Amino acid sequence: MAVAGGKIDYQGGRWSVPDRPIIPFIEGDGTGPDIWRASQRVFDAAVAKAFAGSRAIVWKEVLAGEKAFKATGNWLPDETLAVIREHRVAIKGPLTTPVGGGMRSLNVALRQILDLYACIRPVRWFAGVPAPVREPQKLDVVIFRENIEDVYAGIEFEAGSDKADKLRDFLIDQLGVKTLRQGSAIGVKPMSKFGSQRLVAKAIQYAIDHHRPSVTLVHKGNIQKFTEGAFRDWGYQLAKESFAGDTVTEAEGVKGKVVIKDRIADAMFQQVLLRPDEYSVIATSNLNGDYLSDACAAQVGGLGMAPGANVGDGYAVFEATHGTAPKYAGQDKVNPGSVILSGVMMFEEIGWGAAGKAIVAGIEGALAAKKVTYDLARQMPGATEVPTSTFADAIIAHLK
Ligand SMILES: NC(=O)c1ccc[n+]([C@@H]2O[C@H](COP(=O)([O-])OP(=O)(O)OC[C@H]3O[C@@H](n4cnc5c(N)ncnc54)[C@H](O)[C@@H]3O)[C@@H](O)[C@H]2O)c1
Repeated sequence: MAVAGGKIDYQGGRWSVPDRPIIPFIEGDGTGPDIWRASQRVFDAAVAKAFAGSRAIVWKEVLAGEKAFKATGNWLPDETLAVIREHRVAIKGPLTTPVGGGMRSLNVALRQILDLYACIRPVRWFAGVPAPVREPQKLDVVIFRENIEDVYAGIEFEAGSDKADKLRDFLIDQLGVKTLRQGSAIGVKPMSKFGSQRLVAKAIQYAIDHHRPSVTLVHKGNIQKFTEGAFRDWGYQLAKESFAGDTVTEAEGVKGKVVIKDRIADAMFQQVLLRPDEYSVIATSNLNGDYLSDACAAQVGGLGMAPGANVGDGYAVFEATHGTAPKYAGQDKVNPGSVILSGVMMFEEIGWGAAGKAIVAGIEGALAAKKVTYDLARQMPGATEVPTSTFADAIIAHLK
């Protein structure tokens, strides 16, 4: 029997979540359906376990990608966007990005329509997962990457084009730029105080709420003073003005408060390898965050288990960070960990953290039992390779 659900709302900076929230999902292309089936079972079991049957999710499928194209002739139907907007919180599997053609990217469309300005990527190691470093347990960071500005704003002019040449002339004639090779391609990197500060605010608030010891502003301000350098300055300014009671600078170092510090991006790549336990929450600009989150994920065993979320004010879309792995589609073979851990983030975000905790314990239990999908099994001595669905069973069996 279908259960009636309610809508999640957002008022005064807080989620209001009914006991039976309707959550739209996109199962995804390629291996997406295999992964989604397994993930949904884990989510439902975790909610039932954590809340003793008093809460449940009412899942609502929305279409995107190949499935949408087959059903509607449209890769991204307007209705999908409307339903996600109406219900505010959604979760998705990986989608095929068709090469060429004028197809809209779902992520870009959602980011723009819902203003999902923070890309959040927690990166931690799970015991038993094969990793390339000696002490992967020392890395436990949550990366807040600005999601809209920076070189991703898409302001670029092709080498030799009329526009690039005009812009070059303008820069030289009007703005005093001295050297700019003729025929250069030119890209523009916009970063605003508004965009930077709201991202840093989300990171600091997260650190406070989750009792994290520090927020590190990662930037390339030694070279790009007015963009990356300003990101750092605006970050410190915001911490001082809006979070004075909860934060201190590195020099002040008061116990019990969130330390705000900064590191130059290139040094940060060394730091996460050499002194990973000195970092906790990281707030950074778009391009730095792109590189840093993949590098950190690789350090603890790769993208197969790395979750992600795109979050704005009152809207959030949780997703796998890997692609559709099409060669394994329909084989019940790949690791559902990334979508499942995205669900953990979703539960934390909507205040259902107990369900998230249950799942983390379930994953730890499944890993300890060494019943894992092929990607992990092939590198874990003594492990048994199991299908996606059996890995989900093992997680469910270890929910706590
Ligand atoms: N967020 C997204 O929706 C997203 C992200 C990246 C790529 N894509 C799309 O996915 C398609 C395939 O891209 P790709 O091959 O570059 O990347 P991919 O992530 O699908 O695959 C890269 C490698 O990782 C493996 N892999 C991926 N997910 C796995 C999992 N859950 N468990 C075990 N192994 C896994 C694959 O088998 C492959 O060897 C393309 O259409 C691409 O555009 C979508």
